Amino acid sequence: MTISRFDDKIALITGGTSGMGLSTARRLLAEGAQVVITGRDRTRLEAAVKALDGGQRVLAVRGDVSSLPDLDALTATIRDRHGRLDVLFANAGVASFQHSGDVTEAEFDHIVDVNFKGVFFTVQKTMPLLSEGAAIVINASWTLHRGLAGASVYAATKAAVHNLAHTLAADLGPRRIRVNSVSPGYIETPMFHDNISAEAKTAVVASVPTARTGTSEDVADAVAFLASGEASYVNGQDLIIDGGLVATAAALTG
Ligand SMILES: NC(=O)c1ccc[n+]([C@@H]2O[C@H](COP(=O)([O-])OP(=O)(O)OC[C@H]3O[C@@H](n4cnc5c(N)ncnc54)[C@H](OP(=O)(O)O)[C@@H]3O)[C@@H](O)[C@H]2O)c1
Repeated sequence: MTISRFDDKIALITGGTSGMGLSTARRLLAEGAQVVITGRDRTRLEAAVKALDGGQRVLAVRGDVSSLPDLDALTATIRDRHGRLDVLFANAGVASFQHSGDVTEAEFDHIVDVNFKGVFFTVQKTMPLLSEGAAIVINASWTLHRGLAGASVYAATKAAVHNLAHTLAADLGPRRIRVNSVSPGYIETPMFHDNISAEAKTAVVASVPTARTGTSEDVADAVAFLASGEASYVNGQDLIIDGGLVATAAALTG
């Protein structure tokens, strides 16, 4: 039986050209949605549109989430094409890891600009388009729940966007808009491979009770649940999708 929880729904997925964003676009599309995906790179956007193979139901818009003019242009494009939004997956993010003693101001600003400012203004700018009963899901990270060496600025931006889900749920409650976050664990995407070597992956897998890394589809399943009517009473929460990493981290480290 085909599940179609998103028939006639309009969904925006920032950072939809790769990893979890692309998998979530594929999942929502398969369940009937019309999707808008964004990213900074035109070639990657074209490749994603081709890979999704959704015809007129996929719209790709180039833009940087840390640029307010880009977000204004994105909102105008969605207004012209669809007139509203039912699902927002604020997913675009960047990562870089180094000891807190070595973080430069430029690196700090870059991560905060994309991961925190980008999420905040993606929600603010698209707010007028959100339909009554719409769902927002923000992509946070397991690192907001446990200390990870080298993750100081990255993890703090993820704690910030998880916290946003609380206040936004309150702010948008009168419009029956739900706001939740997801906290993926170690998910094998291009970002994962940029930061974790093949040797380090063995230790990563050993730290996860399910003894595997996660897939983009694992996260897409959870995002689709939170965005759907099945989660209509789940609001202001963070759903950790990590194979048990956070729940057992204390035991593993003694
Ligand atoms: N992979 C993990 O283990 C993991 C774990 C926890 C949380 N996360 C979070 O999950 C989210 C998705 O990551 P992923 O692992 O799927 O990474 P990914 O495969 O590298 O995808 C990142 C996506 O974001 C886009 N993007 C990056 N900077 C952007 C910007 N300034 N404006 C617009 N789009 C931008 C990228 O496209 P362009 O580069 O073309 O712009 C790409 O589509 C991120 O927020 C990340 O922090 C990842």
